[in-house]
Amino acid sequence: MTAELVIRNARLVTCDPARPGLGVIERGALAVQGGRIAWLGADGEHPAAQHVVDAGGRLVTPGLVDCHTHAMFAGDRAHEFGMRAAGKAYLEIAAAGGGIAATLGPTRAASDDELIALTSARLRDALATGTTAIEIKSGYDLTVAGELRLLRCIGRCAGPGQPRIVPTLLAHLVPPERKADRDAYVRELCEQLIPAAARDQLATSVDVYCDEGAFTLAETRAIFAAAKAAGLDVRGHVGQFRDLGGAELLAEHAGLSGDHLEQISDAGVAALASAGTVAVMLPGACVQLRLPVPPVERLRRAGVAMAIASDLNPGSSFSSDLPLQMWLATTHFGMTVDEAWLGVTRHAARALGHSDAGQLTVGARADVIVWRCDDPATVPYRYGASRALIDSVYVGGAPVG
Ligand code: NIG
Ligand code: FE
Repeated sequence: MTAELVIRNARLVTCDPARPGLGVIERGALAVQGGRIAWLGADGEHPAAQHVVDAGGRLVTPGLVDCHTHAMFAGDRAHEFGMRAAGKAYLEIAAAGGGIAATLGPTRAASDDELIALTSARLRDALATGTTAIEIKSGYDLTVAGELRLLRCIGRCAGPGQPRIVPTLLAHLVPPERKADRDAYVRELCEQLIPAAARDQLATSVDVYCDEGAFTLAETRAIFAAAKAAGLDVRGHVGQFRDLGGAELLAEHAGLSGDHLEQISDAGVAALASAGTVAVMLPGACVQLRLPVPPVERLRRAGVAMAIASDLNPGSSFSSDLPLQMWLATTHFGMTVDEAWLGVTRHAARALGHSDAGQLTVGARADVIVWRCDDPATVPYRYGASRALIDSVYVGGAPVG
C-alpha cells in the first residue's frame, strides 16, 4: 500500500479504548488512506506514502471534538456579563427578560447569510484551537419555521477547511410570546418541528433543556417520546440549576448524554451509569455562572464516561477554546489529565453517537493534531496558549487552517 499521508516519529496519543489510559504509542507512526486511518504502529514500520510528516517526537493526538455548542446566534450579551460580574444571578437576569430570550430577537432578525457568516467565523476560531468536529444546536428562534431555518443554516456552514458539524435540534425554552399556551407550544414541537427536522434529515438528535425556568420533566418526557418516535437520539441539558430528575429520564430513553449536571442525585448518577449515557461537563459555563462543581468523583466511581465541551453561547460561555476547558476541568473540577483528554476526544465523540471520531484507530476518521509539545499535561497546563501549542491540524487527512 502507498498511503496518502504518513505522520511519523510521533508520541501518539491514540485514545484507543482497547489500550489502557490514553493509549500512548511511544515513537509511533500512522498512515492515512481515503480520509481515514489505514495503519498505526511503530515508527520505522510505516508503509510508503506520498507525503511523510516528521513530528519530531512530539505529541500527535486525535482532533478535538466539541460535543455541546450553541454556535448559531446573532448579537451578544456582554452587558449581561457585566451585570453578573457586579453580582446579579443568571436566573435573575433571565426572569427580567434577559438570558436566552434576549438572543431570540437578533437571531430572528438576521438573514441566512448573516447567520452563516457569523457561525462560520466561530468555526474557524474553534479549528484554530484544535476542534475538528463540533456539535451545533439550534434553539435561538423557537418557532417551528425558524428552528428549521437555523438547522438548514447550520448545515450550510459545512465545507472544506472547517470542522465537521453535527446538528442538534434544541428545545431551549418556551418563548415569551408562547408562555400563556405552553402546552400548545410543546405539542407543536412534538407534532410539527421534530417530525419535520427528522424527515428533512436536519438533525440527528433532540436536546431538551430540562431545568428551572425551562422545560418541566413532564414536558421533557413528551419531547423525548416524539424524538424517539421520529427516529432521533435524545440528549439533555439537566441539573444546571435544579435537579428535576432529567438524568433518570434520559437513562430511560437511552439518552446519548446528560449535560451540565451541577445538581444530580445519586439515583441520577446510577441511572446514567446503567444506561451508558455520557456526562458532559461544561466548566466554562459553571465557573462563569459561579455554580457548584458537578460531582466528578461520584460520576467517576459509578463508571460514567465524562466528556468536556465549550457550551459556546452568547450567555454563559462565549468561547470555543477546548484546551481552556481542559484546564478548568483539571484545576477546578478535579478531573485528571487523562480524563480531560478523553473528555474532548473519545468520550465527546460518544456523546454525539460517533464511534469513528475522537480516537486514532484503524478505520477512524483521520482528524489529527500535531502539537508543539510532548507531554499531554502541557495542553491544559499552558492554558490560553493553545494556538501557540498547535503545530498543524488535519481533517480527513487534509491539512487545514
Ligand atoms: O447551556 N442552559 C441553557 N443554555 C445555555 C445558555 C444559553 C444562553 O444563555 O443563551 C447553556 O448554558
Ligand atoms: Fe448548553
